[in-house]
This record gives sequence, structure tokens and C-alpha cells, in this order.
Amino acid sequence: MNSTQGLVFDAYGTLLDVHSVATTAEELFPGRGEEISRLWRDKQIEYTRLVSLSDPNDAGSRHYQSFESLTRASLEYVLKRLGLPLHTDSIESLMHRYRRLRPFAEVKSVLTSLAQFQLPMVVLSNGSREMLKAVMANAELIDFFDRLISADEVRQFKTSPKLYALGPQALGHAAQQLLFVSSNGWDAMGAAWFGYQTCWINRAGLPSETIGLAPSRVGSDLSCVLEMVQAQRRQS
Ligand code: LAC
Repeated sequence: MNSTQGLVFDAYGTLLDVHSVATTAEELFPGRGEEISRLWRDKQIEYTRLVSLSDPNDAGSRHYQSFESLTRASLEYVLKRLGLPLHTDSIESLMHRYRRLRPFAEVKSVLTSLAQFQLPMVVLSNGSREMLKAVMANAELIDFFDRLISADEVRQFKTSPKLYALGPQALGHAAQQLLFVSSNGWDAMGAAWFGYQTCWINRAGLPSETIGLAPSRVGSDLSCVLEMVQAQRRQS
């Protein structure tokens, strides 16, 4: 494996626990919190793919809507699907919570340890610019990163190569020299197809994807990134 010249992190689900909204959802809709959270995430990702796949390659991004807008639309869909009321207050309260997602327990300490290696670190996310900045600032993670790269820059969502291409562009190294870190198996796979080294953080204990390229490394939390970087430094 090539030595890693920079780290590219997914945000939602990898650094930030998207299901930390379940407690707010549970307060608003008792007994339905986890279900809302799960269906919301699935619909949100489905909508990102729907708009990106439906855009003709050569004619810009006609169907693109920001991740924030799709996050709201998918929440509304899920409430309708579950037969729950669409009160503005509940929707605003859940959207507000989405800007205050909790980081996973080990994230800050791993990023602190990674910082000593002085590798450039960026976030590359579907998240819209403002939303991403707010959620990373609220989680006190923003200062660890040289840049937050948003799908807004290319108006295409993952797994579009146009979006993955922003990592190498920002860091000035080929994808093969960069480690892409994601807890979303499909995201790690899209990144591997693009050419990155990949680390799949299998937080949910899911089976490996059954198509595509295997990740370079699999771990159960972010500490495996640190182990990978430490091992490379020992060898060099
Ligand atoms: C992101 C989504 C995939 O942050 O979680 O890009």
C-alpha cells in the first residue's frame, strides 16, 4: 500500500452520530424515535442519489438540491409515511438537532492523536456548506480539519466521482496516496472505485458489501485510522 499523504473523512455517520436525533424524535413522537431516525437517514440518502443520478452528465445539476433541503424533505416524507403530524415546530426542532449531532465517543481523542502526524486532514461530505460548518463547529471538531469540502461545490452527491475528485484536488496528492475514511460501506466503496485507499469504520457491525472493491482496512471505530497511520510511520 502507498504511504498515506493525507486523510479524507466522511462526516455524517463517521464522525457524527446521525442517530443522535433519535432522542429528540422520541420526545416529540414517543415510541417512534428510533424508527423515525432510521427511515429518515435512509430516505435522505435515497434522495441524494435520486437527484444526482437524474442529472444528465453534460447539462449541469438541474435536479440538485442542497443536503439541508433534502434532509428536510426526507423528514417530511417519513412523518407522512408513519402517519405522524407535520407540525412546523417538530420539523424545526429536528432540523435544529441535525446541526447539533453528537460526535462518536472516540472521535476527538483520535483526531487529537492524528494531529501529531501533521498529515493534512479534510472532511468530504454530502453536507451543504453552512450545515456542515455548523455541525462540525457545534461538535467542536472543526479545528482539526484543513478544509470542509461540500457537495455544494460540484452539485453532485456521493458516489459521484466529481465529488470524490475534490479530495485529491484539495490536498494536491493522487487519490491512491490518500486515505478515505467512512462508516458508510457504500461510501467507502465509491471512494475505493475512485482510487482512494479506504478505511471502512464498521460501526454497526454490518456485513461487507457484496459488490465492488474491498476496503484497504476495516475497523469498528476511528482508532483503526490511527493504528494505520502509526504502522505506516513505523515502516517508513
Ligand atoms: C456524508 C454522508 C454520506 O457525510 O454521510 O457525506
